[in-house]
Amino acid sequence: MTRILVTGGAGYIGSHTAKRLSRQGFEVAVFDNLSRGHRDFVRWGPLVEGDLHDTALVRETLRWFKPDAIIHFAAFAYVGESVSNPGLYYRNNAGGTLSLLEAMRRTETRNIIVSSTCATYGQPDRQPIGEDTPQRPINPYGASKLMMEQLCADFGVAYGIKTVALRYFNASGCDPDGEIGERHDPEPHLIPRILMAATGEISHIEVFGRDYPTPDGTCIRDYIHVNDLADAHIQAARYLMDGGASDCFNLGTGHGASVAEVIAAAEKVAGKPIPLKHGPRRDGDPAMLVADPSKAAQVLNWRAGNFDLQQTVATAWNWHRKELERARG
Ligand SMILES: NC(=O)c1ccc[n+]([C@@H]2O[C@H](COP(=O)([O-])OP(=O)(O)OC[C@H]3O[C@@H](n4cnc5c(N)ncnc54)[C@H](O)[C@@H]3O)[C@@H](O)[C@H]2O)c1
Repeated sequence: MTRILVTGGAGYIGSHTAKRLSRQGFEVAVFDNLSRGHRDFVRWGPLVEGDLHDTALVRETLRWFKPDAIIHFAAFAYVGESVSNPGLYYRNNAGGTLSLLEAMRRTETRNIIVSSTCATYGQPDRQPIGEDTPQRPINPYGASKLMMEQLCADFGVAYGIKTVALRYFNASGCDPDGEIGERHDPEPHLIPRILMAATGEISHIEVFGRDYPTPDGTCIRDYIHVNDLADAHIQAARYLMDGGASDCFNLGTGHGASVAEVIAAAEKVAGKPIPLKHGPRRDGDPAMLVADPSKAAQVLNWRAGNFDLQQTVATAWNWHRKELERARG
């Protein structure tokens, strides 16, 4: 059986990927320090509870599990936090990856798929965004992920470690079976926050800017369902294990949705109006970020599209209501 080690597999995207891997016949183990993940999200293989910075433990884990590939999600992922605490981000996202690569080079593990982000592109002047767009991050989160990509490239040259860097746009939605979902605290992502406004957990959703040069004036993003993302990782692992060379791919639907459209979709799903307030633009928020996912289609034979926006929001709503019931006992 093909073995995949999932770092950060107790988190949002990692747990969904572990489930998809297991459903497709892979053997999975999770490496996570549970700093931002959840023990109850680890259901499809054993959990090694540890920190990426513990190179000896990572090395031991690789010697024990002998993965054919690693899918590396473990990182911190909040732009705002990275601005106020940049050291945390460079240490965890770049330093953590360096420790993982050091452990890989001392074992036989040669394939790694890493979570990168459209934040490495900063404020691109062309849409949709292809992989050849210059990477000019405008915050420490994006910069730490670009460093991660660079570390992987350098370890490729020096030690033959092969990397696929997947640059995601906005991960969204939850497991359609409702077994796992998005549980972040605080929760910075738009769709869960809209749903929190729908249930009254927060008083309203704040819309930052309605004077952007977009059809309805609100920002446009590319919302990709987490299961579509998970499948791209599996395709990338197959690609590397079949002898594919190091490469990078943008993962998105190729279609943008505005904040107003996401709110409208959520109102339909929840069956009620969602209280909102309009605020000023936020610093560093580009009007539009939409992926050109055609390279992933050609090389990895992967396309998003199992879920449209409405379905994506519906899977998030389903999970959100379950979580609320759980919290209320
Ligand atoms: N959510 C998005 O929209 C999005 C978009 C682009 C890229 N990404 C990237 O995808 C990855 C996963 O994101 P997510 O939303 O699932 O985040 P998450 O916080 O839900 O999951 C990250 C997991 O990594 C673990 N972790 C963090 N640092 C660790 C360390 N040093 N050692 C061991 N475990 C550690 C956490 O405990 C958590 O379980 C991240 O690398 C993120 O940068 C996410």
